[in-house]
Amino acid sequence: MVNTKAVIPGSFDPITNGHIDIIERSSDRFDELHVCVLRNTKKTGTFTVNERIEMIKASVAHLPNVHVHSFNGLLVDFCDKIGATTIIRGLRAVSDFEYELRLTSMNKKLNSRVETLYMMSSPENSFLSSSIVKEVAQYDANISEFVPKHVEAALLEKFNTSTDK
Ligand code: PNS
Repeated sequence: MVNTKAVIPGSFDPITNGHIDIIERSSDRFDELHVCVLRNTKKTGTFTVNERIEMIKASVAHLPNVHVHSFNGLLVDFCDKIGATTIIRGLRAVSDFEYELRLTSMNKKLNSRVETLYMMSSPENSFLSSSIVKEVAQYDANISEFVPKHVEAALLEKFNTSTDK
């Protein structure tokens, strides 16, 4: 029997409810789902890779077939390393499309065995991103509906804002 494996790559800086929604909805469609923190050269990190991994692990602890990694290299090389031929990405709005098309086309050129599948974000998450959550968290806004409790606490600590709201 074939063991189906998929990779959900990203910066996850930090993980949001939007990421978790995509992970949950993908997890029962594959035997193994591998969430991988990779480097996006266009972004400067807020959390360390280890902090991001810990936050992801705590967010997916209820999903037994989900594994969390980091990889310092090309996404397609990570796929090869673990024997996965499917990448899953969430798609929020038309504005994501051009970037995702470039990412997917380059990955296909680099490794034609790997296929990227897109899953539409749930409507309530269609505007959600790590950057927009970080932006408002810096102004002490209530972010409890956008990220899990432990991520909210980490963000408030990082930006040194109040937790007693
Ligand atoms: O959450 P993000 O920042 O949109 O994720 C982008 C990410 C990290 C998946 C992408 O930058 C990536 O794959 N980085 C690893 C290096 C790589 O493989 N680059 C080639 C794709 S153009």
